[in-house]
Amino acid sequence: MDRLVIQGGHPLRGRIRVSGAKNAALPCLAAALLTDETVVLSNLPAVADIRTMVKVLQALGTEAALEAHPDGFELTATLACKGSEDPKAPYDLVKTMRASILVLGPLLARFGRATVSLPGGCAIGARPVNLHLEALERMGAQIEISHGYIHATVKGRLKAIDHAFEKVSVGATENILMAAALAEGTTVLRNAALEPEIGDLARLLVEMGAQIEGIGTGTLTITGVARLRGCEHAVIADRIEAGTYLCAVAAACGDVVLDRCEPEHLRSLLDLLERSGCVITEREGQDGRQLRIQREPGQKLRSKDVTTLPFPGFPTDLQAQVMAVMTQACGISVINEGIFENRFQHAMELERLGANLRTDGHTAIVAGPEELTGCTVMATDLRASAALVIAGLVARGETIVDRIYHLDRGYSGLERKLQGVGARIERVGGGKV
Ligand code: UD1
Repeated sequence: MDRLVIQGGHPLRGRIRVSGAKNAALPCLAAALLTDETVVLSNLPAVADIRTMVKVLQALGTEAALEAHPDGFELTATLACKGSEDPKAPYDLVKTMRASILVLGPLLARFGRATVSLPGGCAIGARPVNLHLEALERMGAQIEISHGYIHATVKGRLKAIDHAFEKVSVGATENILMAAALAEGTTVLRNAALEPEIGDLARLLVEMGAQIEGIGTGTLTITGVARLRGCEHAVIADRIEAGTYLCAVAAACGDVVLDRCEPEHLRSLLDLLERSGCVITEREGQDGRQLRIQREPGQKLRSKDVTTLPFPGFPTDLQAQVMAVMTQACGISVINEGIFENRFQHAMELERLGANLRTDGHTAIVAGPEELTGCTVMATDLRASAALVIAGLVARGETIVDRIYHLDRGYSGLERKLQGVGARIERVGGGKV
């Protein structure tokens, strides 16, 4: 199994090009199920989750080709979903990637039937899918759960609903948005999630011929159409990947320019890092917007409190990385996890590296600055792994991050990008994504 070996204590200097957003790419891939015409999606990050979603689509009767760009960081998918008699997303694929549930809405809307494995729990919490199923039932779907699978059918087309989600959910908003695009009548989705990835999906759907109003707001109005067409679409930049590299520089010091990112999607993090004492500048580059972050060695960081919330609040997907930063800040930082119930598993590993912190329920308290010293650590999920890499870049001596298949699910060429800015980080074990 691959591991990352990091020699810490070296500031990061140079440029990193931000890849396409995994969490935008996954629903966009699922949206290809809504048409029998060809959908070409570019700027997909070259990560394991994208390959898994493509396998799910293939299992559902999609002809799919994935082409890697010469730099190896990006993929382009060409997809044509002709359909299958019995569309089924099998457990073996769904268990490795919960976002597979996003095929449910499109399959039901287009074929009137779908069988999708229940995703089950995961390392960061229970993560139920009740919000997805409730809305689809209101649209006329018959849903039965047996033998670990969701069996859904609908007679004729799904029917439009006026629906307020009980809780803000990124995945449920995406699933129902896709279903509504082919439903009969005008659907109104209230309390819809505001994450930028939903805006990207909505723009793809509009390019496919969907009628959607309110993109970027909490109320989406979708007038269903009988057919959608093929199109070409490039997914947005990955705000979580960009945020991870910003946190790496904040913690390990240096001066790095991130190319092709979208600062508007990162306001809560940029604000936090600036208030902590990092210097951040934004400007227009040749290839989209750029962010520059500077923190010179010896320049003190101030501790700040963080509460994770739905967008535009602070993203839960950057909580672990910011915890690693706060180990280097002067004072006490109180970190509240407002989205998932079990998302502090990186805390104990950070403690093994020398961090001074306590967790209690949804709250973590970090006291800094603390000198970190390298050791072997093990990651439990994708973003926890990123936090351990950041801590490894700071720690004196050698840190080994084990179980990096989690990282490979969501970061395109992480160690190559970090090497490019001077990090001493190496993959050992020989495997590739
Ligand atoms: C997406 C992101 C994930 C991110 C999360 C929150 C993708 C592929 N994944 O996950 O990286 O951490 O948003 O920003 O985009 N919930 C229910 N019932 C449901 C659905 C969700 O109770 O039917 C709860 C969840 O347990 C969680 C909260 O709602 O506590 C938010 O989850 P949700 O926004 O749905 O996350 P995902 O779409 O799974």
